[in-house]
Amino acid sequence: MNIYKNLLRPLLFRVDAENAHNLGMTFLRTPLPSLLWGSRSLVKDERLRVSLGGLKVPNPVGIAAGFDKDCDAFRSLCRMGFGYVVCGSVMLHRRPGNPRPRMVREPRQEALWSCMGLPSKGLEHAARSLRRKGRLSVPLTVNINAETYDDYLKTFDTLQPLADAMEVTLFCPNRPADAGDFLQPEVADPFLAEIVRRKEKPLFIKIPGYVREDERARRLQLVRSILKHPVDGITITPESRMQEKRLSMGAGTLTGRPMLPQLLGVIRDVYALTGNGCAIKGAGGISTARDAFEAIAAGASSVEILTGFIYEGWAVAKTINLGLLKMMDAQGIQNVDELRGLV
Ligand SMILES: Cc1cc2nc3c(=O)[nH]c(=O)nc-3n(C[C@H](O)[C@H](O)[C@H](O)COP(=O)(O)O)c2cc1C
Repeated sequence: MNIYKNLLRPLLFRVDAENAHNLGMTFLRTPLPSLLWGSRSLVKDERLRVSLGGLKVPNPVGIAAGFDKDCDAFRSLCRMGFGYVVCGSVMLHRRPGNPRPRMVREPRQEALWSCMGLPSKGLEHAARSLRRKGRLSVPLTVNINAETYDDYLKTFDTLQPLADAMEVTLFCPNRPADAGDFLQPEVADPFLAEIVRRKEKPLFIKIPGYVREDERARRLQLVRSILKHPVDGITITPESRMQEKRLSMGAGTLTGRPMLPQLLGVIRDVYALTGNGCAIKGAGGISTARDAFEAIAAGASSVEILTGFIYEGWAVAKTINLGLLKMMDAQGIQNVDELRGLV
C-alpha cells in the first residue's frame, strides 16, 4: 500500500494547500526524514548517471525550485531519491509575496494553481542555512531571482560559494512589477555576460516556455542568446498565466499534469537548437516514469518535479528511476545519455 497516497495525502488535502505545504516543511526541517529514509530512496545504477554540463548527478530526476524556497529543508530532500535538489528562489530582501490564498489544488487534473509572488526570507537567511549544510548525498543547486540587475549579482555572489551549482530564473509570472525585461534578449545578453564572468560553479538559466505561437519565436531567440554564453544548461518550465478566481490575485499559473504536452513541445524546440552541447532541464507536469522517459527522449537531460511531488509523495523519484530503468531495458537503451533526444 502507498502510505502517502492512501493515508497521508487525503489528510493533507483536507487542509488549505499552503498550510499543508507548511506542515510538510515543518516535518522536513527535522532530522526525522533522514533517519526514516537514510539513503534507501536513491536508486544506484550507472545507467541513470548524467552530466548536466559540469554538474554530475546520480539520476536525472531533480526537485524543482519553489518547494524549499528558503533553503530550510534541503538535507531531507537530498535523502528522497532525487538526483539533485534545487532550492530557492532566494531573493535579496525578505518579502511577503502576494496575499493568500495563493496556492490552490486542482486534484482532478493533478495540478496546482499558484500566484506566490516570490515570498522570501531573504538572502541572509538562505546563506546562514547553507553555511551549515555540511556534506550532502546529492548535489545542491541554489536558484535565485531578483527585480534588478544589481540584486541578481549580489545574491549570486553571496550564494555561489555555498552551492554546488547555481540557477538563475529570469522571470516571475506572478510578480506584479515584473515587466519580463530579463526575457528580452537585448537585456538578457549583457546580464548573462556579467553573470558568466562571475561563474565558478555549474550555471543554469531558467526560462518559461510558451503557450502562444507568437511567444515562440521570441523565446527561441532568447535561447539563442543564452547559448552564446558558456552556461551549463537551460531550465525550461512551460508556465502560463491564466484567470483563477480562487486565488487572491484573480489569476495565477497552472502547474502539474496538464502542462506536460507543452513541456515536451518546448523541449523539442530547444533541443533542436542546443543538440547535446548544452544540458536541458525540463520542469512541468512530470510525475511518472513514462513522463520522464518522454521528456528525455524529446531532448531533456533531466526532469524536475514540484507538483508531482505533492501528488505522488516522497517515493516519486525512486518510482520514476526504477521505471526508467525498466523502460530503457525493454527498449534496449543502454543509459539515459543514449535515451536523450531519441525521438
Ligand atoms: C507553489 C510554486 C512555487 C514556485 N516557486 C518557484 C520559484 O520560487 N522559483 C522558480 O524558479 N520556480 C518556481 N516554481 C516553478 C517550479 O520550479 C516548476 O518549474 C513548475 O512548478 C513546473 O513543474 P511542476 O509541474 O512539476 O510543478 C514554483 C512553482 C510552484 C507550483
